[in-house]
Amino acid sequence: MEVIIQPNNDAAAALVARIVAHDLRSKPQLVLGLATGKTMECVYHQLAQMHRTERLDFSQCRSFNLDEYVGLRPDDANSYRHYMDQHLFNQVNIKPSNTHLPDGMAQDLDAECRNYEALIQKFGGVDLQLLGIGRTGHIGFNEPLSALRSRTRVKALTPTTIQQNAPYFGGEAKVPRRAITMGVGTIIEARRCILLATGESKADIVAQAVEGPITSMVTASALQLHPRCTVVVDEAAAAKLREKEYYRWIFASEPEWEDYR
Ligand code: PGA
Repeated sequence: MEVIIQPNNDAAAALVARIVAHDLRSKPQLVLGLATGKTMECVYHQLAQMHRTERLDFSQCRSFNLDEYVGLRPDDANSYRHYMDQHLFNQVNIKPSNTHLPDGMAQDLDAECRNYEALIQKFGGVDLQLLGIGRTGHIGFNEPLSALRSRTRVKALTPTTIQQNAPYFGGEAKVPRRAITMGVGTIIEARRCILLATGESKADIVAQAVEGPITSMVTASALQLHPRCTVVVDEAAAAKLREKEYYRWIFASEPEWEDYR
């Protein structure tokens, strides 16, 4: 893992957007793994801006989102399909037919999960996977005790996650109880992973995921097994990391990051 600490939320999101733009320019047929949530909004805003001002081209790119709620129609304002259309897909020139999210309305949810895995394989696997982290330490909706080798499947949300997402739904009672999510095993097969976390509410869980033991209780900790994972945090989310000075030194001195400093 590498950890990059940026001064604030905007700088952290901008750095992630620049990594995406760089990978997309080097491989226009990039298979992008996408995440939803408040943290990612700023990244998508930056990418949309780069599309407008720098002609960042998504026309050959394909995307796979991490997860979708079970029981929400794609046009539901709280569905992740709606979120993606609003924040990214409608703002750039990605082909709608190249964008994929699990179908939370599928009659046969298990078949939908198997098909989603097969589709990712069909297009050669995910090149670059964006990830947020929930207060439970989840990546995707891989809540505590998710098997570290799990594949795309239906998961029950924890009370903490339901509480975290309740404001969007107008109360906890309205939050769906289940979601389809890529498994931890699916996620860590991506060729590159970038986890973005900002704000003080993430400081504890980021420290556990990055510097704590690998455990299914904090599924983001499985990223420690990944050969190419970058964790981008702002100062607030970095607050509880013990080895901050080492991470800063690596970012300041490694040639790979020269263009990003
Ligand atoms: P957030 O969600 O960006 O809204 O904090 C992240 C997550 O739960 O994965």
